[in-house]
Amino acid sequence: MISAYNSIIAGTGAAVPDQVITNQDLEKIVETNDQWIVSRTGIRERRKLEEGLSSVDLSERASREALQRAGVDPSEIDMIIVATITPDHPTPSASCLLQARLQSLKAGAMDLSAGCTGFIYALTVAHQFIRNGVYSNVLVVGVEVLSRVTDWEDRSTCVLFGDGAGAALLQRSSEEKGIINFSLKSDGRGAELLIIPGGGSAYPASQASLDNRLHYIRMNGNEIFKFAVGIVEDTIFELIEPEGLNPDDLDLVILHQANLRIIDHIRKHLKMPSEKFPVNIDRFGNTSSATIPIALHEEILAGRLKEGDLVAMVGFGAGLTWGGILMRW
Ligand code: UT7
Repeated sequence: MISAYNSIIAGTGAAVPDQVITNQDLEKIVETNDQWIVSRTGIRERRKLEEGLSSVDLSERASREALQRAGVDPSEIDMIIVATITPDHPTPSASCLLQARLQSLKAGAMDLSAGCTGFIYALTVAHQFIRNGVYSNVLVVGVEVLSRVTDWEDRSTCVLFGDGAGAALLQRSSEEKGIINFSLKSDGRGAELLIIPGGGSAYPASQASLDNRLHYIRMNGNEIFKFAVGIVEDTIFELIEPEGLNPDDLDLVILHQANLRIIDHIRKHLKMPSEKFPVNIDRFGNTSSATIPIALHEEILAGRLKEGDLVAMVGFGAGLTWGGILMRW
């Protein structure tokens, strides 16, 4: 529902590392091949951050672009929310490091951990501050450096992930547009399906945790696949039905880029054209909380979003978590 204080995305930005890792590169590391990776996932290449750089570097690049496009000075930011599972450090937060880089000295700063749904969760939290009339400018970032938590000996996961960041400046507006609806869900019973077991209070870093490779991502791909296919369509309907809308009314549906087969399955089931479902997993792989803001930014740059367009964004991932946002552009 549109209220007195509406939340619009005033500017977006994205940043990916320069280094490209192709499927052929991975063939030299693990027992895999380009044909398997492309046919099972749609991924052709992904980006890897160079040593010495970290999440804050990608976040800063994406954020500066978003701010510049929004015409907002860093000093005007009221709150910074960074969605990530790969912050620079367990503490302090990635958002505080970003706040210092940007010199956004009046801003509050917090991280949000919701796996690949992180950007949707963070944007929804930002929306609450704006809708309440508390804040005018909230910077929301989805960033991951998954290459640092990828087990490069595990072919079932190392072919999937990439590094990147996307940012959006959410701004108060009195115009009848912006975020219309949101849905946030979780089911912690599926926690083990996608997990980095080590490095927290359960298995703090030790020689044994290193030896047992507990600091890397472990995923039950089949189960996550089934879960994703089950909840994405429900989430879309949860967003549009209260507004009396049909899937055909949507101009753009940005899904978390985890697997091209998931995107195609949903699109075909909804009988919608491929132009409405942006895909960049072929170039960037799965960048977790960064896939949706990067895709949104690319759509804006390509001029595919027009004033008045109806946009749905849906994420799903570790937790388990899932959720979506409906916006009038
Ligand atoms: O972003 C968070 C949410 N994450 C997701 O949404 C991921 C969802 N899951 C998926 O995208 C898919 O399940 C995967 C792409 C991860 C895996 O695809 P799959 O079709 O479910 O494959 P599978 O795990 O069932 O494996 C099929 C076969 C196995 O061999 P056998 O047992 O049939 O002989 C695997 O060992 O493919 C084998 N395999 C590989 N072969 C070549 C697994 N990984 C590879 C590989 N290269 N990289």
